[in-house]
Amino acid sequence: MSHDMSHDTPKGRQIYEGKAKVLFEGPEPGTLIQYFKDDTTAFNAEKHEIMAGKGVLNLRISEYIFSRLEASGVPTHFIETLSPREQLVRQAEIIPLEVVMRNVAAGSLVKRLGLNEGETLPRPLVEFYYKDDALGDPLISEDHIAVFGWCSADELAEIVTLARKINDCMVEIFEKVGIRLVDFKLEFGRVADDMGQKIILADEISPDSCRLWDIESNEKMDKDRFRQNLGGMVDAYQQVAERLGLASDIKDN
Ligand code: TMP
Repeated sequence: MSHDMSHDTPKGRQIYEGKAKVLFEGPEPGTLIQYFKDDTTAFNAEKHEIMAGKGVLNLRISEYIFSRLEASGVPTHFIETLSPREQLVRQAEIIPLEVVMRNVAAGSLVKRLGLNEGETLPRPLVEFYYKDDALGDPLISEDHIAVFGWCSADELAEIVTLARKINDCMVEIFEKVGIRLVDFKLEFGRVADDMGQKIILADEISPDSCRLWDIESNEKMDKDRFRQNLGGMVDAYQQVAERLGLASDIKDN
C-alpha cells in the first residue's frame, strides 16, 4: 500500500488480506472496514501490477451499485463509505462460492464450450466456482455444494434468486449508460437476524469483477484490459464511473 494514507480511518486489527482488498476489524462488533488496494491481479495472481487510482474507482463504483441494489431490496453488507478507499461493512460468514452470472459469452465460458465471444446467451446463465485460490477456483455444480455442505439447499435457492435479481438490476443500470453487462462475479455471506440467519451480498462489484463492454463499439471497459494487455485500464474504469454519474475527480485520491 504505497499511497498517501492521510485519509484513512484508524482501524482495528487486520483480519484478512486478499488480492485487491484488506479487511480490518470495524469500530463495532459485527462490522469490518473493507480497504480497496490498487493491486491488480489476473490468472490467480500470476500477473500482478499496482494500478494507481484503481482502488478509489472500484470503491466508488461498488458503493453506487450496492446502494442501487439495496434500494431494489437486495440485502448487502454495505453500511457506509468512510474514506476514498474504506467502507464500513457488516461482517458476514462468507460462503466459499464465486457465483458468476453471464448474459453474453466471454472468458472461460468461451474457452470451455467453444462459443464465439460476444454471442448473447439464450437466457442469463448462473455458474458456481469453489472459492479456493490454491485450486484455482474450480467450476462446480449444485450437487458439489450440497455434498460438501458449502451451504444449505435453502441458502443456495436464495443465492440464485438474489443473483438473478442483481443481474436484472445491473443490466438496466449499465444499459442506461451505454454499457453491456457481459458477466460478473458475486460473493455472498451469512449474518444473524431475528429469524435466525440470512444471506447478504458481500465483497465488491466493480470493473475488476464484471465484464463491461461499450454498447456501440464493444470496447472493453473492465479488467480484461489488464488480463489481455490492452492498456488504459484505469482510464476505462474512470469512464465507467463518469458514465454512472459518479464524481469525475476521484482518480487523484
Ligand atoms: P471467467 O470468464 O474468467 O470465468 O470470469 C467470469 C466473470 O467473473 C468475469 O466478469 C470476471 C469475474 N471473475 C472474478 O471476479 N474473479 C475471478 O477470479 C475470475 C476468474 C473471474
